[in-house]
Amino acid sequence: MNKKINFASKGIKCSVEIEVHSIKKKIESIINTNSNVIFLIDKKVLNVFKKVKNYKNLKYIALNCSEKIKSFQYYSMICSKVLSLGVDRKSVLVVIGGGTLGDLGGFIASTLLRGIDLVLIPTTLLSQVDSSIGGKNGINTSFGKNLVGTFYQPKLIIIDPYFLSSLPKREILSGYAEIVKHAIIYDQKFFDWLNRNSKDIFKLKYHVLCKAIHKSILIKKIYVEKDEKEKLKNKYSRAILNFGHTFGHALETYYNYNKRLTHGEAISIGMMIATTLSYKLNYLSFKDLIKIKNHFIANGLPIENKEMYNKKIFEIIYKDKKNTDNKINLILLKNIGKSFFKPNINLNKIKKLLNK
Ligand SMILES: NC(=O)c1ccc[n+]([C@@H]2O[C@H](COP(=O)([O-])OP(=O)(O)OC[C@H]3O[C@@H](n4cnc5c(N)ncnc54)[C@H](O)[C@@H]3O)[C@@H](O)[C@H]2O)c1
Ligand SMILES: [Zn+2]
Repeated sequence: MNKKINFASKGIKCSVEIEVHSIKKKIESIINTNSNVIFLIDKKVLNVFKKVKNYKNLKYIALNCSEKIKSFQYYSMICSKVLSLGVDRKSVLVVIGGGTLGDLGGFIASTLLRGIDLVLIPTTLLSQVDSSIGGKNGINTSFGKNLVGTFYQPKLIIIDPYFLSSLPKREILSGYAEIVKHAIIYDQKFFDWLNRNSKDIFKLKYHVLCKAIHKSILIKKIYVEKDEKEKLKNKYSRAILNFGHTFGHALETYYNYNKRLTHGEAISIGMMIATTLSYKLNYLSFKDLIKIKNHFIANGLPIENKEMYNKKIFEIIYKDKKNTDNKINLILLKNIGKSFFKPNINLNKIKKLLNK
């Protein structure tokens, strides 16, 4: 299966190519068509270079990747290494790794020499269906996650699902949570299709996996093209993609981004909270609430966590949103496939509804 997606809105020129077992020919083509290519690569996928012709001559920096690389310290260290390898305005930075390396590498490409060309080769399911798409990058600070970064579109995104064969099951599930999110916010038919096909996604059956990745990207693309810089506050807002993320991020912060909770697990719980609220506020039917809940349970996505209603979680949300009047914006559902931006919901009201 070979699929291409082009972003065609003003200002965004980026193409996405999805093809199984394509990585060798794609890397060789980038090397052959550019005068100076520098790779940033996650050590866990370093062996991909062994397939590439003349791999001993490649210029690359290999890193152990986790959330900790998204820091000023790594940013500065990698910029220096890239500069020492020799870089000019025509150089291309190719980033091969998951979302953490993609976020760091994107920020480096956008700032080095005021911007050099960027190619992303995402290697986790989460990065293939979500983080590589849309041009956001960033690093973390002691004040919070992703607080320093830019919007900077890669020229090309190459997706080879073959990478996923070495990915731990828990990381596959983490990426799957973002796929389901895309279905729930925008496409009921896709949700029903996932209900029938999710088991084959987890078995990494390529035709099903490619379709899920492709569909997921097409949905994200709609919001990115309508609202690249996240300025809108309506049903086309890019913020719709944050469905489940308010509570999800609060849980991740509560657990200090440690391994007890992956991003996908945190947002699964967050999506279940937003779904429950949509029902309790009379927007969503009981039938749809149960359909979502059953899908999560059947696929091993967590629907609860013993700390989810801890008052510290609400404090984190309150602080995070920097609200003065105790109100937050949430993404809620009218149906599966129909989401909307709901501004100014009182946090105490949310607390009461969830405790009932
Ligand atoms: N920029 C955006 O729009 C956006 C959107 C969503 C998430 N994100 C960011 O993405 C990050 C999470 O991304 P992630 O889940 O890919 O995390 P990650 O990059 O830490 O990868 C998860 C783990 O998988 C390993 N790995 C990577 N590819 C592998 C492979 N093919 N086989 C085996 N192991 C492999 C990594 O070394 C790491 O240990 C977060 O920092 C989040 O903020 C960004
Ligand atoms: Zn997410």
